[in-house]
Amino acid sequence: MTVPVRRRELLAEAARRLHAAGVASPEYDAQELLAYVLGTDRSRLVLVDEVGGAAAEDYESLVARRVAREPLQHLTGAAYFRHVELAVGPGVFVPRPETELLAGWAIEAVAGRVAERGTSEADRDHPAVVVDLCTGSGAIAKAIKDEVPGAEVHAVELSEDAYAWAQRNLADTGVDLRQGDMATAFDDLLGTVDVVVCNPPYIPLEAWESVATEARDHDPHVALFSGDDGLDAIRVLEQRAALLLKPGGVVGFEHADEQGTEGGRYSAPAVFAATGRWSDVRDHLDLAGRPRYVTARLAR
Ligand SMILES: C[S@@+](CC[C@H](N)C(=O)[O-])C[C@H]1O[C@@H](n2cnc3c(N)ncnc32)[C@H](O)[C@@H]1O
Repeated sequence: MTVPVRRRELLAEAARRLHAAGVASPEYDAQELLAYVLGTDRSRLVLVDEVGGAAAEDYESLVARRVAREPLQHLTGAAYFRHVELAVGPGVFVPRPETELLAGWAIEAVAGRVAERGTSEADRDHPAVVVDLCTGSGAIAKAIKDEVPGAEVHAVELSEDAYAWAQRNLADTGVDLRQGDMATAFDDLLGTVDVVVCNPPYIPLEAWESVATEARDHDPHVALFSGDDGLDAIRVLEQRAALLLKPGGVVGFEHADEQGTEGGRYSAPAVFAATGRWSDVRDHLDLAGRPRYVTARLAR
């Protein structure tokens, strides 16, 4: 029989090992994993003095997997995005906190369109329409439907594995989820969409080495990489969004730090500015001051 271990010592030792393995947030991850094993919240761990033998063994095996750089969210099976929880695991991209900014922009844009509409029956029959291209786990689509329930939300995902996760996450939300290529998605919505939002794959193939171990080994490559300059999917998005949106409709999409306005041949805003189809092409910074997402309006 294994003897109980003091909670403080268990956490300190786990954090030390995670730190040594290069995990970015060792204390947080150590606590999250222990809370998961004990079926409690991280904030309630202070109420635990000792961890029983069986739980300590389960904890040890999860810490060992995290030391080997399996994503925390794959170990707990859950990711949190704005106010929603998503089931995640092998085969689907783990939603990132920085994408919450892009989702927030989309939510404001959709809410604005909903507010502009009247309360007449005709307006109720034509709600604000938003399309999430490259939905992955369904994170952005789910957050939009959660925060703007009156919006009509559509989402598409190419990968069969990711689509299965999105099906699970978007069940009973009212989101219209489809499997397919964004290049040809939603022929039935051409010229009717108010807001297109997309977190596409955008890492240049040549940047393979710089990708964090968790992402490189556990996020699907179709979710990460997009041609030599990382802009292939963004070029497809530009073309498809121009067809899907109404005149005056808006698009927002995420890009890599190096793909901001000053990015030269890697510039994501330039992909949109170059076609002459868009007005108000703007790049936005994230909370760390790095270029993170572009928004643009389809010219009228
Ligand atoms: C960076 S992940 C973003 C997932 C999710 N939107 C998020 O923010 O967490 C990109 C997603 O796009 C999907 N994808 C890649 N190419 C696509 C295409 N041509 N059409 C539709 N989805 C695509 C990938 O499978 C992946 O799930």
